[in-house]
Amino acid sequence: MAFKRVATGIEELDKIVEGGFPEGSAILVKGSPGTLKTILGLQFLYNGAKQYKEKGTYVSFTQSEESLIQQAEMFGWDFKNLPVEFKNYDITREPDLEGMVVSDIKTFKPARVVVDSLTSFLSKLPLSREEFVNDQIFEALKKVGGIPISEDMLLRALTTRFIRRMREADASTVMYIYEERTFESAKETCEYLVDGVVKMSKIEALGKRTMVVEKMRLTKHDFLARTISVGPKGIVVEK
Ligand SMILES: Nc1ncnc2c1ncn2[C@@H]1O[C@H](COP(=O)(O)OP(=O)(O)OP(=O)(O)O)[C@@H](O)[C@H]1O
Ligand SMILES: [Mg+2]
Repeated sequence: MAFKRVATGIEELDKIVEGGFPEGSAILVKGSPGTLKTILGLQFLYNGAKQYKEKGTYVSFTQSEESLIQQAEMFGWDFKNLPVEFKNYDITREPDLEGMVVSDIKTFKPARVVVDSLTSFLSKLPLSREEFVNDQIFEALKKVGGIPISEDMLLRALTTRFIRRMREADASTVMYIYEERTFESAKETCEYLVDGVVKMSKIEALGKRTMVVEKMRLTKHDFLARTISVGPKGIVVEK
């Protein structure tokens, strides 16, 4: 069956994935601090809006709209007249964070979404453990009775539910950014759930950064780590 590919606009990356991410897919971009995840997210939305006139939403839980726009301006990406929304949610104040994000996506109907980051979204968990334990997702478990619900189980459930609800919101292609820090269980769950995984790394000894496509459903790709750099127009993936 033919399906559309959502090009990132980063030439070499698009070549690796047969022209772009499969439309409607969930892509995990994982990496430690400073591995260019946010720049990749901004570039993905900017190119989508500028070259393909596709609407985009940048979902941010930490960085403000001003800071993201400032970061984009360094590469000459002017979002002013483009159909891109920046949504900054305060995880400490928003009682139904997941509901808010999903509802905003349903309203604006973007073709491309960046969630920066899934790690921040999950860090809300300790703030409202009760809310999650009482979620219907655990009803079946409660009927069995007596099994304590661990933080691991909560994180897996929360990740699964968020990605499922985002998938149901519409056919948008979603880039979930994941920081390589805590929540190992959530990250693993996520890697299986999503359609694609792109890993961003720093090799300090060589002063280099790399990118590798670890997984991309519906796509014939290699999993060779390629050197990436930051040029005047954003991320460049070397051949
Ligand atoms: N104009 C530029 N030229 C070269 N490198 C740059 C430029 N602007 C930023 N960088 C590099 O990009 C890095 C920041 O990238 P980015 O914000 O995308 O990282 P990140 O992976 O999102 O990090 P975090 O997990 O902390 O949010 C900086 O540490 C810097 O090394
Ligand atoms: Mg970032």
